[in-house]
Amino acid sequence: MGGVSEPLIRWFEQHRRLLPFRQEPSAYHIWISEIMLQQTRVSAALPYYERFVAELPDPAALASCEPDRLRKLWQGLGYYSRAANLQKAAGVLCDRYGGELPADYDALRALPGIGDYTAGAIASIAFGIPVPAVDGNVLRVFARLTNDDSDITRPETKRAITRLVMAEMPRDRPGAYNEALMELGALVCLPNGAPRCGECPLAGQCAGRAAGRAETLPNKPPKPAKTVVPVTVALITGPRGVLLQRRPAKGLLAGLWQPPAFEADHPLTREELDARLRALGLAVRWTGTLPPARHVFTHRVWQLSGFCAASGQEVLPGTFVWADLPALEREYSVPSAFSAYVSEGEIREKQEENARILT
Ligand code: ADE
Repeated sequence: MGGVSEPLIRWFEQHRRLLPFRQEPSAYHIWISEIMLQQTRVSAALPYYERFVAELPDPAALASCEPDRLRKLWQGLGYYSRAANLQKAAGVLCDRYGGELPADYDALRALPGIGDYTAGAIASIAFGIPVPAVDGNVLRVFARLTNDDSDITRPETKRAITRLVMAEMPRDRPGAYNEALMELGALVCLPNGAPRCGECPLAGQCAGRAAGRAETLPNKPPKPAKTVVPVTVALITGPRGVLLQRRPAKGLLAGLWQPPAFEADHPLTREELDARLRALGLAVRWTGTLPPARHVFTHRVWQLSGFCAASGQEVLPGTFVWADLPALEREYSVPSAFSAYVSEGEIREKQEENARILT
């Protein structure tokens, strides 16, 4: 190979998207954006990014943010553990590095939630350190460029591609080079058999394209099917709002709020759900059925179903609360998995229906 970086960086300078973390590319901004972009599309992450850095402009502010507020800022992005790790890492930055991100790949890599890719992105883009930042985009670009059909999920493949990425890296512009590779993967060398080779600055040197195989690369074996878990939800509303319960402090969606919901090996019937609630000390009046919904996590799929109910119960057991609409908006972070059921519009409608039913 050889001769990748020059046309690539020239293309990047002409075609890159104007993203907020590119306008003010501090290490902190790059860090926050890269963590958000790990499982979220750029367009979806942008409003979160803007709100997050406006409210928490530096590691000190992040380290001292109330965890419930942090959950609220992250609500909808998913994988709240990413936000919890951001905060842990911010604490380390304040304790050990004067509240700044260190300009050192190994020190970055040692922070909670920062892996090879993120450390490489921060070190190269913010600090100009010549290290690789190889994500799925970059693996795809290089697998096509070199017509390499090795399985990109294997560590050996990633190591071999990382060596090639480094061999092509201009030592004076590692950040522009790494980001240009990501951007090429995001805008031109698209996944799922849809590369736009006509727009690619590297088309002339792409071995995959020459072999007519760009569409079929990279070789990425399908993931094993995810476990489908039925979750039955009780959407209980009353004059004081919607009934929520805090999830356990550890595990999936730790510390977030949700309507009472039960995982089981089958969707619960209304009678089974009623029995579960009674066992917890909740008595409700059933008013209808919830539409089925699905939510896909990394390793499992929730198959959601359930029932709605009305209740005016004043004294609630243990971890339950009534959340009225302003509190739902401001204070309680409800995972997106429940957004088909718990939204301002839904709750308002249910409250109005209840008022008609109960009077
Ligand atoms: N995906 C993740 N990080 C990115 C970046 N900095 N530019 C383009 N796409 C990205």
